[in-house]
Amino acid sequence: MDFVLTDEQKMTRQMARDFATNELAPYAMQWDKDDHCPLDVIAKMYDLGLTTVGVPAEYGGPGLDNVSLCGVMEELARGDAGLATAVMASTGLASDPVLVGANDEQKKWWYGRMMEGAIAAFCLTEPGAGSDALGMATKCVKDGGDYILNGTKQFITNGEIAQQFTVLATLDKKLGNKGICAFMVDRDSAGISISKKEDKLGIRTSCTNQVVFEDVRVPAKNLLGAEGQGMKILMQTLDLSRTGVAAMATGICQASLEAALQYANERQQFGKPISAFQGVQFMLADMAIYTETSRLLYMKAASLQDAGLPFKSTSSMAKAWAGDAAVKVSCDAIQVFGGYGYTKEYPVEKYYRDAKIMQIYEGTAQVQRMVIGKDLSKNGYTPYF
Ligand code: CAA
Repeated sequence: MDFVLTDEQKMTRQMARDFATNELAPYAMQWDKDDHCPLDVIAKMYDLGLTTVGVPAEYGGPGLDNVSLCGVMEELARGDAGLATAVMASTGLASDPVLVGANDEQKKWWYGRMMEGAIAAFCLTEPGAGSDALGMATKCVKDGGDYILNGTKQFITNGEIAQQFTVLATLDKKLGNKGICAFMVDRDSAGISISKKEDKLGIRTSCTNQVVFEDVRVPAKNLLGAEGQGMKILMQTLDLSRTGVAAMATGICQASLEAALQYANERQQFGKPISAFQGVQFMLADMAIYTETSRLLYMKAASLQDAGLPFKSTSSMAKAWAGDAAVKVSCDAIQVFGGYGYTKEYPVEKYYRDAKIMQIYEGTAQVQRMVIGKDLSKNGYTPYF
């Protein structure tokens, strides 16, 4: 792993950093207060190519490596984790099943629309199937040249703003893994309805909805891979996207650390800035350690992906570590701010609320440990360095 970014990686990251600093961070607290998803800002991100960072070069996108892609996610989350989630869920999570499972024709359809501004959503979770992804009840039935989808998907990021979905469904629950299918679905298909936005603790700029499929006809040519390959496509998708979540969690760590540092240097108590006290310095030092180790771990996972080496456990380690780190670092930032940190006058209470989801979505902290444990017992441990 190279600890120095290439000029191209630096430029991409800087562009996302500038955008987050100027166009996200100054407004994020108000959007959060208003529970508002700013579509005009998503449109600006599209104009800059930020909503299509995951599109391969062959399909008109920037063809970024994973180190660059995760760098963009960290920077956007430093500005606002809700909008970073919206971008990640579209160009990462929802598009990864296409990246790993689609043929050329399917990629042209999916990425072509994204390059024209379409936002995507990933429909896996159901009211009764969260950590137990295989417990899904959404059914797909072959009918002539189509599949018919029926079921309810829960907590779908971008649900109400997406123009296309990747959807996981089962041919028959009795088939277990072998019955899962993955589809690309056009939002305009008849039979799709979307509930109102969930009222969430944090990441309030991202829309989270229930998406209901009622006798939705999907052309058979929209099936990714073959019947029964959906579970493998799903697991590969989650391996990829979890690194991106770790990057977003690192962005929250970074924002929390920067805010706490600035405040600690300005806030005077006992006649000096509180940063002069060792008790506060130790907290800031720990926050920097958690931020940097989170960054190193997601960068390692992304580097392994770019090198074509196994990265499953590293991706889960990065997600588990950085998710916990984001909660700890943002919580400590509130502590540095004291009573002011507990108010909505400063951004640190928002960082704390935003951070919590990093331990939950795309596999809870506990699921990541299941993934790591299973991989360890099957393949042992190879550090690769
Ligand atoms: N490549 C290919 N195949 C793979 C694979 C990979 N990287 N990883 C696993 N597989 C295969 C396995 O070999 C297995 O196939 P076989 O049965 O043929 O051997 C199959 O996929 C299933 O793998 P496991 O047996 O490991 O799976 P499991 O059923 O034990 O999985 C689990 C358990 C890890 C808990 C899994 O269900 C899981 O990850 N759950 C969490 C789901 C999740 O992350 N949900 C979040 C939804 S997205 C979201 O959060 C929304 C948002 O908007 C941000």
